[in-house]
Parts: sequence; C-alpha cells; structure tokens
Amino acid sequence: MRDLVAPKYPLEPDAEEMRRLVDEAARRIIEHIASLPSQPAANVDDATEFARTLIEPLPKSGEPFDKLLDFLFQEAIPRSFNTPGPGYLAYIPGGGIFHAAVADFIATAVNRYVGVFAAAPALAQLEANVVRWFCEIVGYGKGSGGLLTPGGSVSNLIALITARKTQLGDDFSRGTMYASNQVHHSFQKAASLAGFPLSNVREIDCDSAFRVDVGAMEEAIAADRAEGFKPFLIAGSAGTVGTGAVDDLTALADLAARENLWFHVDGAYGAFFVLTERGRNAMRGIHRADSVVLDPHKTLFHPYGTGALVVKRAADLRETHSMHASYLPQFQQEEELIDFAEISPELSRDFRGLRVWLPLKMFGIEPFRQLLDEKLDLTHWATEELRKIKGIEIVAEPQLSIVAFRHVNRNNRELLERINRRKRVMLTGTTLGTEFVIRICVVSHRTHMERMQMAIEDIKAALGSGL
Ligand SMILES: Cc1ncc(COP(=O)(O)O)c(C=O)c1O
Repeated sequence: MRDLVAPKYPLEPDAEEMRRLVDEAARRIIEHIASLPSQPAANVDDATEFARTLIEPLPKSGEPFDKLLDFLFQEAIPRSFNTPGPGYLAYIPGGGIFHAAVADFIATAVNRYVGVFAAAPALAQLEANVVRWFCEIVGYGKGSGGLLTPGGSVSNLIALITARKTQLGDDFSRGTMYASNQVHHSFQKAASLAGFPLSNVREIDCDSAFRVDVGAMEEAIAADRAEGFKPFLIAGSAGTVGTGAVDDLTALADLAARENLWFHVDGAYGAFFVLTERGRNAMRGIHRADSVVLDPHKTLFHPYGTGALVVKRAADLRETHSMHASYLPQFQQEEELIDFAEISPELSRDFRGLRVWLPLKMFGIEPFRQLLDEKLDLTHWATEELRKIKGIEIVAEPQLSIVAFRHVNRNNRELLERINRRKRVMLTGTTLGTEFVIRICVVSHRTHMERMQMAIEDIKAALGSGL
C-alpha cells in the first residue's frame, strides 16, 4: 500500500520506512557475510562485460529498493575479488570487521561534522583518541599527533609534504629523498605529487632479504650533497608490499640523525605488527621515525578507506597545513584539542574515526594482537609446508605475514593461474629482480588454518596437474 501513495518528501523517510530500509539491507548483508567462506575467492570472469552493460544516463525516476538490492547482492557484488573472504591471500588483503561497518552506518546516519572541533567536540575527541592510541602503538610520546586518512597512499603524500615544508621550505627543487628499491610505489607517486621530479627519488639497492642497504643509502646521500642536491628525507619500509621485508629501522634512524634528515616509515602493511612480540623485534627503532604510516584497513582488519599517519611532532603537521578563513569557527588553541581541518588537506569529510573507535572500545586491543600473531603463525606454517614440496624455492623468507616462492622448473605465471583456478584461494605474484614469484599474504581476520591448508592443497594440485 505504501508504495501506491508517493510521499511528499521521498528523501525524508518516516520511521517505518527507515526500519524497512535498514532491515532489508541488514538481512542481505548478514546472508552475504555468512556465505563469504563458500564464495569463490575471485569471480571476475565476465565482470568487465557486465560492467559495460551498466553504463546508463542519469535516472529520471526511481526503482524499488528491493530490486536495487537484488541487483547489488546477486549481480554486482558477487562479480569481484572476494576481498573480505578467508581465501583472499593476494596483494595486501583487507578484511573489514563487521563492527566497523555498523560504526560507519551510525556515523553516516547521524552525519556529524568532525572536520572542525567546534562542530562536534566530543566526536572529534573520540577520533583524536584513536590517533593517540596509534601514537602509543608506535611508541611515540608527548607532542606527537596525526590523523586518519583514506589510506596509505594519502598518508605517504601528507607525510612527504610535511617533511618537505619542514625541511626545505618553499625552495625544494633540489631536495632528494631515499628509499629502497622495494618501497611501495605510492612513495614515488607522493614525491611526484609533492612537486619533485621523479629523478629526485633515489631507489637504493637491497640485501638478499630485500632490506635496504643502509651503507649504500649513506653513500648516495654523500654523492648528492657533493653534487649540490639537498637530501631531506629517508624512508624505511616496515613491511614491503612485495615480500613483507622490514628495513633496519634503527640503522636508518641513526643515519637520519647523523645527516639531519626526516625519517619516514611506511608501515601501511606492517606497522600494526608491533603489537606482537615478533613484530616489535622486527621493527625496533620505529618510534624514532618522524612520521609513520599505518593502515587500519590492512592489518587492523578494517574496511577500505581507513588509513592513518602519525608524526613525532604534531606541530609539524599543523604548521604545514594550518590555514584559516573568516567563515570558519575559531580553531582550538589548546594543544590537546584538535581541529582535523587544521592538520590535514581535508575540510569536510566522513567521520572515519568511529569505525576504529567502536571496535577498539568494544574489544580492547587484545583480539587484534592475537589475530596478528595468528597471521604470523599461519605464514610460518605455510612456508614450512612449501619447503617440503619438491622444486619449490622460498625466495623471501617471511619477516611478517608474506612469503614469496617460485617453482624452479615451472612457468610460475601459469602455476599461479592454476592455483587460483580452483577459486578457494586467490594469490598474486610480483617480480623480484628479473624473477616472477608467487606470494602468499595472510592478513584477513577471516583467514585461519583450514584455509591455509586449502592453499597448500591447491598449490600441490596445480603442480601435480603438470604444466
Ligand atoms: C607498504 C605499502 N605502502 C603503501 C600502500 C598504499 O596503501 P593504500 O592502498 O591504502 O593507498 C600499500 C598498499 O598495499 C603498501 O603495501
């Protein structure tokens, strides 16, 4: 009956209609999440053709909610990589804890404004607390600060611009920066977007464990100074995307101190592993960095769109970004009270803090730490199983939760394709030097031992079927 009488203000549903919308969506979401383990690890065979059929002009009139939900849950969503599923061992998996989705629903439904403190002081403070907890995780003390971002790439960009402004001022064209040749490409992209010629990014060779050669970095800095360049930043990786390698952060911190350079750490994938004992040992010295990128949407199992940047001196972020206008409310003068607009490129934005705050308050940090430990164990287990397979070479021993391997006599691209064909797991590869290698990256909170066993079974089956 309701549908027969068009409401006067359709964009303002009444209580009954709101309940219907939420219930209908929730029913399908819950069914979808419950079936994640039995969904294929990837299902994109006809997805591009299907996507083409969806191109359409601006809708003039509406369609029923149920029909649109059917389209989403039956047609569009299934034709994807199953990124939140347990078999997604590709790239750097996300996960997406359900509690964060509920928090997002609350945040977008109440739609408060956290860009400036005055508009929602308590909510801005909850987000500031999340940032403070991340500072604590990294080992930062008083005076540190940071912000939540849409992801690691944006965090790297904000860090690089902050370092540029702090170290070089406005005359930066001769500024050079240093990172390993395994650094995530968002670092080079950030340099380019920050106004540097790409040739000012020095990619330094690595040792056999894919950790940057700190001696070679020091030599490159000296050579550049002799040429009249202005070295201003060195970057360490706390978990490279290729193999999960962790640079010697203590040695890099020492080098940065000797040379008076900004020390940046890209821990988008790896930094949350400092919550574990093994991760802490691998990342000694991380607290000495001037800036650290961490991605909750990777190793804190959060939905995509949740990144973070923390800096040792919050004042650097503020001095880099602060800009006021007469139409804005007063910014806070107390150091403790944060106007996010004053320390970031964004003004209006989503209340992304709630999706981290709610699960951390509901559970505390312990379940997160345990899951990260589990991922380290699973990767170690998989590595030992791979080692037992004739012809498999471990190209990169796991330092965190990535192992890279190859078969010495097979075409590894074809092997990868065969492993993935069963659709119980999805792996991806990368090139190390001239060698194509296959990676297993264990990050999702939904990946447990039974899925790792499937991964090993599928690798064996792919090898057994002959190439
Ligand atoms: C080490 C590292 N840094 C940065 C990024 C970029 O992060 P995002 O995809 O969130 O922009 C990634 C992504 O995988 C990464 O692994």
